[in-house]
Amino acid sequence: MADADSRAGARYMTPGITSYVDRVHAGHDAGLARAFATPPEMPAIQVGQSEGRLLHVLLRMIGARRVVEVGTLAGYSAIQMARALPADGHLWSIEFESHHADVARANVTAAGVADRVTVEVGAGRDVLPRLEAHGPFDAVFIDADKSSYDFYGQWAIANLRPGGLVIGDNAYLFGQLVDDTDIARAMRGFHEAVAAACDSVCIPTPDGLVVGIKR
Ligand code: DHB
Ligand code: MG
Repeated sequence: MADADSRAGARYMTPGITSYVDRVHAGHDAGLARAFATPPEMPAIQVGQSEGRLLHVLLRMIGARRVVEVGTLAGYSAIQMARALPADGHLWSIEFESHHADVARANVTAAGVADRVTVEVGAGRDVLPRLEAHGPFDAVFIDADKSSYDFYGQWAIANLRPGGLVIGDNAYLFGQLVDDTDIARAMRGFHEAVAAACDSVCIPTPDGLVVGIKR
């Protein structure tokens, strides 16, 4: 057995391997399972199990205390991140849809981290400026409307402490990252702003996950 192909892009992930490693490293307790199982009226577009666990591990690695999330959905990634914080840490998570925010708050409460999470309702562009007073932040996780990633990235860079993390989901833009479209230009603007201000990488998760350490 030998690897001839991975540097040329071959992927050895299979559904069986994914389910094995998710189970071994990234298992769900009742609180995470509840938030992962989005109700039928909501889109099932939360991060994958291993990406959620990666958010938790990254925040633990840097001893994060103050974190911002853009795009709460049902609160799955919020719970993963909140559980990485110390008792006096806090996550501010922004959700555009008020029904999604209600579902997320109930899930965050059921997962036992309501004291560490505030779900703010509104567009990221409107809510982020109001959060600046709580900064500078240790990490900002972006997983919301893709056409605003350039704005969110600039905001993160301006409001992170040196050594803080900017993290962005869907960094391959569903396969459209290098297309000649406004949304692809916005996502490339995010990549390039992070690369200019951070020591960064795009992890090859199924849809790409940017992680940058602010210089
Ligand atoms: C969509 C959004 C996401 O953040 C994601 O991870 C997958 C899909 C979407 O809008 O379809
Ligand atoms: Mg996403």
